[in-house]
Amino acid sequence: MEAELAGMRVDYRRDELDVGDLASTWHEQLVRWLAEATEAGVVEPNAMVLATAGDDCFPSTRTVLAKDIDERGVVFYTNYTSAKSHDLRITRRAAATFPWYLQQRQVGLRGGVERVTPEETRAYWVTRPRGSQLGAWASAQSTYVRDRAALDACLAAAERRFADSAEVPVPPHWGGWRIVPESVEFWQGRVNRMHDRLRFEQNGIDRTWRVQRLAP
Ligand SMILES: Cc1cc2nc3c(=O)[nH]c(=O)nc-3n(C[C@H](O)[C@H](O)[C@H](O)COP(=O)(O)O)c2cc1C
Repeated sequence: MEAELAGMRVDYRRDELDVGDLASTWHEQLVRWLAEATEAGVVEPNAMVLATAGDDCFPSTRTVLAKDIDERGVVFYTNYTSAKSHDLRITRRAAATFPWYLQQRQVGLRGGVERVTPEETRAYWVTRPRGSQLGAWASAQSTYVRDRAALDACLAAAERRFADSAEVPVPPHWGGWRIVPESVEFWQGRVNRMHDRLRFEQNGIDRTWRVQRLAP
């Protein structure tokens, strides 16, 4: 297997990226690439790998779904008592990567985080299927569960609890986080590992943005 792994490689020659190709803002460029990923048939194109660190400085990663992107940042929804939310509350920082291997692209961003308003959370919540809503009530995300039966019992309890309610309310422990980027890097694979890396970087003092090219 070692030998097979060593021999695995793909030649990247699908596309290129130069400064003149970029939209004028990071979020317009991200929305553009997200649309292109969707069009190209990338599976779950809005999935991003979210990195957080705990108070022990240990990093953790997991996938979440981006549900809103605009000039304010990138929003995802989760359980506010989960391991990731615990990290975010402590450090107020996150990084995330959209891995679009099909297109030989990735976008990496990092920045501060803030909780979205309850109104924003509710606006998204009502678009979720009832089953997902009940699942959010049933799962104390990131905590130990005795076995599958115990988990199924929690869902059944949530179903009973809201059986007579046409609408399932937003759980108090659930909502959105917004990553407010200070840098966003657009990466396009190129031949000979001479990839294009263009990074929008925000000046911490006057908040203006500039684009820098990085060596691959
Ligand atoms: C494709 C995909 C999408 C996911 N989307 C979310 C999401 O939007 N929110 C979420 O809380 N967990 C999502 N998950 C589950 C997380 O990866 C993770 O298991 C969970 O949030 C618990 O993480 P934590 O214990 O580090 O907090 C997703 C997993 C996959 C594979």
